[in-house]
Amino acid sequence: MEIKKIYQDKKLLIGTKIKVQGWVRFNRSSKSIGFIELTDGTRLDGIQLVYKLENEEVFSKLSSISLFSVLEAEGQLIQNKNDIEILITNIIDIKKTEEDFPIGKKEHGLEFLREQSHLRVKTKMFQAIMKIRSTAAISIHEFFKKEGFFYVHTPIITGNDAEGAGESFLVSVKDGKFFDKQGTLTVSGQLHAEGFAQSLKKVYAFGPTFRAENSHTTRHASEFWMLEPEAVFCDYNEMMEIGWMMIKYIINKILEIHIDDLELLQKVNKDENLISYLQKISSSDIQKISYKKAIDILNKASKSGVEFKEKDIHFGIDLATEHEKFLAETHFDGPVYVYDYPAEIKSFYMYDNGDGTVRGFDLLIPKIGELIGGSQREDRYDVLMKVINSKGQNLSELNWYLNLRKNGYAKSSGFGLGFERLVMLLTGVENIRDVLPFPRTPGKLNF
Ligand code: 4AD
Ligand code: MG
Repeated sequence: MEIKKIYQDKKLLIGTKIKVQGWVRFNRSSKSIGFIELTDGTRLDGIQLVYKLENEEVFSKLSSISLFSVLEAEGQLIQNKNDIEILITNIIDIKKTEEDFPIGKKEHGLEFLREQSHLRVKTKMFQAIMKIRSTAAISIHEFFKKEGFFYVHTPIITGNDAEGAGESFLVSVKDGKFFDKQGTLTVSGQLHAEGFAQSLKKVYAFGPTFRAENSHTTRHASEFWMLEPEAVFCDYNEMMEIGWMMIKYIINKILEIHIDDLELLQKVNKDENLISYLQKISSSDIQKISYKKAIDILNKASKSGVEFKEKDIHFGIDLATEHEKFLAETHFDGPVYVYDYPAEIKSFYMYDNGDGTVRGFDLLIPKIGELIGGSQREDRYDVLMKVINSKGQNLSELNWYLNLRKNGYAKSSGFGLGFERLVMLLTGVENIRDVLPFPRTPGKLNF
């Protein structure tokens, strides 16, 4: 019987014989009695098993069982003073761990655990992270279903660089030729999602995304999941609101379902404010400022003594991490959208305001930085054509994308959200490598 179920039905089950299956998370014995915590993943805490010398065979087997061994056993469910426990009467099977099993004997650093990605999910911390990751993904689907969006599957192998940044992995075969041109792994499903939105009105893509950026930061991975809603007859202000509503929806779900996991994460991350921080975000409105205003704020701060490494702050610069940090963490003390960026520093597909800015927006989050990047799309064929040329994009690859503009293209807006960065926000985990089941980052391809 699953341990969660035993707890749910304990009133009915007291005194009965129960079979349990799981892994040994804790084991301690004296001369005549021993205690095991058995976990099976269905509940953050496991269940206590008791074994006594009276039953010699059981006692000798269980007192020597190593941590994280598989144990299947039977016994009687008993109510003790504070909790329930099972007095083991019969062992069905044991599958032991090796002598040098690396997890569980002492507290491990996160870096050590990364080298053990196939085993680290056995720890309570990683169980909590992966369960929250699961609920966050499901909540995304729930939110968009509620809002009338359709889930579309955009291709993983593509023939164009959707971001125009040249950061794609090549897809090839041994003898060189497979497709009629060079294939790449997708860096974004946006271009294809735009096509779907021109028929289904409101869609979202959510899937694996690949970037060959050589960024060794705590926020960049080579393989990650991106959520990309796209909606027509929708301007960028409305899209920013949808993004914020969605984040609040997901946070509320996590607070509702995972309070015990969050409490555990507060302890292991040594950050007692995680829950109150999430509560605060989930009940606040989003702040928005234009890029121009952001530059003014940064300049004022710089003049009044804030030390930035990059001191030359003027219209046209790409905001550095320290600038984004200052805005979200110090000035606004919370999430903030920055919009209307200079055309030069943004991708080719953003709607041109005609004053040197485009209708792009980023959502900046304290500690995490950019969580969302989105825009209203350039819907004018001639304008888009000009930008594609001036940015030196490969026109022939983007012909089909341009062609959409000639065939009944409604005003369209969308964004991309880095799913792992969202999980970092939800769990308080500070390194993207610790919210990915098997992280892929430059220089590393273990597992
Ligand atoms: O800002 P980005 O590059 O935007 C796009 O790709 C658009 N085509 C999305 C759209 O409008 N449909 O990426 C979107 C988000 C970023 O804000 C960031 O959260 C995440 O994707 N992201 C990464 N996450 C982890 N590792 C990386 N290397 C990432 N690169 C981007
Ligand atoms: Mg971006």
